[in-house]
This record gives sequence, structure tokens and C-alpha cells, in this order.
Amino acid sequence: MKVLIVGSGGREHAIAWKVAQSPKVEKIYCAPGNAGISQLAECVDIQAMEFDKLVAFAKEKDIDLTVIGMDDPLVGGIVDAFETEGLRVFGPRKNAAILEGSKAFSKDLMKKYQIPSAAYETFETAEDALNYLETSKYPIVLKADGLALGKGVLICNTKEEAKEGVKTLMLDKQFGSAGDRIVIEEFMTGREVSVLSYVDGKTIKIMTSAQDHKRAKDGDQGLNTGGMGTFSPSPFYTAEVDAFCKEHIYQKTVDAMAAEGRPFKGIIFFGLMLTPEGPKVLEYNARFGDPEAQVVLPRMKNDIIDVFQACIDGTLDQIELQFEDNAAVCVVLASDGYPEHYEKGYKITGFENFDGKDGYYVFHAGTKWNGDDIVTNGGRVLGVVAKGDDLKKARANAYEATEWIHFGNKYMRHDIGKAIDEA
Ligand code: AMP
Ligand code: GLY
Repeated sequence: MKVLIVGSGGREHAIAWKVAQSPKVEKIYCAPGNAGISQLAECVDIQAMEFDKLVAFAKEKDIDLTVIGMDDPLVGGIVDAFETEGLRVFGPRKNAAILEGSKAFSKDLMKKYQIPSAAYETFETAEDALNYLETSKYPIVLKADGLALGKGVLICNTKEEAKEGVKTLMLDKQFGSAGDRIVIEEFMTGREVSVLSYVDGKTIKIMTSAQDHKRAKDGDQGLNTGGMGTFSPSPFYTAEVDAFCKEHIYQKTVDAMAAEGRPFKGIIFFGLMLTPEGPKVLEYNARFGDPEAQVVLPRMKNDIIDVFQACIDGTLDQIELQFEDNAAVCVVLASDGYPEHYEKGYKITGFENFDGKDGYYVFHAGTKWNGDDIVTNGGRVLGVVAKGDDLKKARANAYEATEWIHFGNKYMRHDIGKAIDEA
């Protein structure tokens, strides 16, 4: 069969790599893709938000299955655009992708269906939000309602900071219309865990757990980023936590969406915080995490095409998900200065060091071809991934492999997986 993948980051490279393992797949296209993806798939110069062009391309090439990696097109209704034309596509429809697309929607859903999450209020005007802050407890958390590249969340330690935050989101519109409405939420403490799942509208199957590192600098300092590195599984995701989430969070979320007339098919990414009162939902995403996919997919044993098809057909109950009994660590190699200002266009060398090395992967995020060279083309450039028998071995392997790659302005965190030592 022919598969089209929509997106251009490390997550889409990991998806393409996993799709390429399937004996059912004869050809992969990726729009728009990157230099790494182009070694597995034919990259097409169509952007993820160009729905009409993507639909026309899928028809022209007789694509059997399209897989949407990114949040923006999902929230914008790309799945509906494909389905209207009778095309098979993996991902939630627009009315279900709102689970990620609107924080106010997801918070209201959790409240209505008693899914554990932080207490909150929603505000449509800066004036109301500012009044509310007068009598709030600090720290407090401000969230832009809409998509903001994972950067629309402000943790404010004082009333002054919070007021400044309301100004940034609602008046200065730093995240555009994403800040037309904001959620103000109780500050929670605890360890964070990401849990990805496949969902077919009614059945949910949980993948292995992972943990991201969102801040740019060592010691969780610096600005929030898309994610600087991950490990999987999380040693803090115990059998007890799993049992709690299965009872109070996962199936309840799927049932809630169905009850609202918004059946969810695709990936639900549960961002959880393990608080002293038990696990609570920090956020939902409607797609694989990036760079969570890079550590979860290499450990997945199933043919991913079978799982995608089962989600679309509503037969996920017949699939038994299987993961390897090992660990994986991803260290993101970024351009120094990310997530603010950074230079691009540096030649990257050393890819050949990964050739023939089992359990080591280099997934491209911001790269492109420049003649015969691969050059840096974004803030997050590559995700270096290694597996190991356990987390410590995987971490040592991954950091070893980061030394195999060279480019100008190469930057990484040196403490990805430090939490493993505290487990
Ligand atoms: P989100 O995009 O909602 O996951 O938020 C980004 C990050 O902000 C999370 O990964 C947490 O580290 C932090 N965060 C979000 N909400 C809260 C909260 N209610 N309490 C404490 N930290 C939070
Ligand atoms: N790594 C976090 C995300 O993909 O949202």
C-alpha cells in the first residue's frame, strides 16, 4: 500500500521509520518532510495546512492511508477534508481534535466527567482575569486557550507576574488569537509523565510511558521548548499509577468524547502530573508527542499499519499492543539559541556513524538538503535515540551517540534522564 505522512519534524521521521518496517507498505510519501525523512520517503513540497493540495495529491497518487503527525492541521480539520473526499486517514476529526485545540474545552470536559485535573476558571476578557488574580493563591498557571507551540503556558509566582502574563497573552497577543480566551489554573506539583494511546472511538490502548524535558537548559532552567529530550519508560509510572489512570482517566476521556458526540479516533497523548493527591491531567494532545514518539515507536513491536487501520475501523479491541522490555532515551541536538534566536544552514556531518548500529537512531527534525549536504534548518535539528536493556544503559548509549554528530552551533542538554537516578 501507499502511505502519505503529513508533517516535517522528528516525530514524523519516527512515524515514517516505523511505517517503513511494515511489509504491507510499498511506498511512503511525506509532505513536506525533511532531509532525514527523504531517505525513507518521497518528500513532496506541500505544507501541512494546504488541505486542498494534500487531498488532490492523495487522489492523484492513489494513497491508501494518510497519517497526520502534527497538531495544527488536525485542529484545523484536515481529517474532515480527507474523509469528505472518501480518503482513508488516521487522526481525529476537527470536532475531536478540539481536545488539544482548546484548553477551555478540555478543562470543561474533565470537570463535567470528573476526570482529575487542576481547579481552574476560564476568562474571555483581560479585565475579568485581572480581577480574579487579586484574590488568587500563588504560584498560579495561565494558559492560552488555543495552540501556541507548547509555549502558551505561563507559571507565575506572584500577582505582579501573573498580571504581566495576562497582558502578554490577552492584550499584547503574543500567541495571537490563541490568547483570546485564557484558562487560569491551580499550580500543581509532582513528576510529569507522558502517556500515549491509540483510540478507535470507543476502545483505548495505552502505549508505554515516557518523560519529556521541556525547558531549554540543564536543571530545567531556561525557556519552554517543544521538548529537549525524552526517556521511556518512566520509572515513576508504576503499576499503581497505571491502575489509577485506567480507572479514572483513560477510558473516561474516550467515553466522555463519545458522549459529547465527538468520538475520538487517533492518538490521545495524556500529559499527567503525579501529584501528592494522585495523578491528574495537565493537558491532552491529539497526536504523538515530539520527541516522545522518538522513544516510544522504536520500542513498539506491532506493525503500526495494523494499529492505524484498527483505529479507523473501530476494531482496536482485537489488537494486543506489545512493547519491548527495554528502554530508550532521546537527546535533542538543537541550534544554540533555540527557542529564541538561532542561526541555520550549518553542514551536519557524522550520520554514517549510525550505519549498521542496532538500537541507535538519528531522527531528523530541522534539516534540509543543500546540494549534497544536509544542513541545519530549525531550532530542534536532530533527535539522537538509543535503546538499552535499562534506562541507565540507554542514556549512556544515547549520550555516546550525540558525539558522533557534528554541526555549527550544536547545543544539547546534558541532563536528559537525570530523574532516572532518583527512581
Ligand atoms: P501544558 O502545555 O499544559 O502541558 O503545560 C506545559 C507545562 O507547564 C507542563 O508540562 C507543566 O510543566 C507546566 N504546567 C502546566 N500546567 C500546570 C499546572 N497546573 N501546575 C504546574 N505546572 C503546570
Ligand atoms: N513533547 C511535548 C509535545 O509534543 O507536546
